[in-house]
Amino acid sequence: MARILVVHGPNLNLLGGREQHVYGHTTLSEIDRQLQHAACQAGLEIECFQSNHEGELIDFIQHKGAGADVLIINPAAYTHTSIAIRDAILAVAIPAIEVHLSNIHRREPFRRHSYLADIAVGQIAGFGAHGYLLAFQAACHLLPRGAAGG
Ligand code: DQA
Repeated sequence: MARILVVHGPNLNLLGGREQHVYGHTTLSEIDRQLQHAACQAGLEIECFQSNHEGELIDFIQHKGAGADVLIINPAAYTHTSIAIRDAILAVAIPAIEVHLSNIHRREPFRRHSYLADIAVGQIAGFGAHGYLLAFQAACHLLPRGAAGG
């Protein structure tokens, strides 16, 4: 069965309460539940992971990435700083879809640069929590024909 990983970076555990005007009202567990539901409908395995620690995110990508088909990742603030997360994704050679709840290109200049953008298959930004479901659909299109579809 095809396997999708979802990685959430620092402070995303606070979604629903954190800067609601920027990130919306949906909590991380609601996002994960929606993704689990979509995966179940499509007959896919999905594993979601959140950490506030760069090394834990890297360990997860190293340990789980090699056995998975697609990575959906919102590295949060590490988007703009982490060469190490970029290198981990390159090391496991997994197709990655970068997600941001906010449109990082309309915000402060320091958020416009992403260390993942040029190694990701694509980036989805600005659609709030719905962006994760868009990323899930995009992930399904990256799987071999017949792997998704329930
Ligand atoms: C974010 C954007 C980042 O700049 C920020 O540090 C986050 C969340 C987003 O989903 O919009 O924590 O990745």
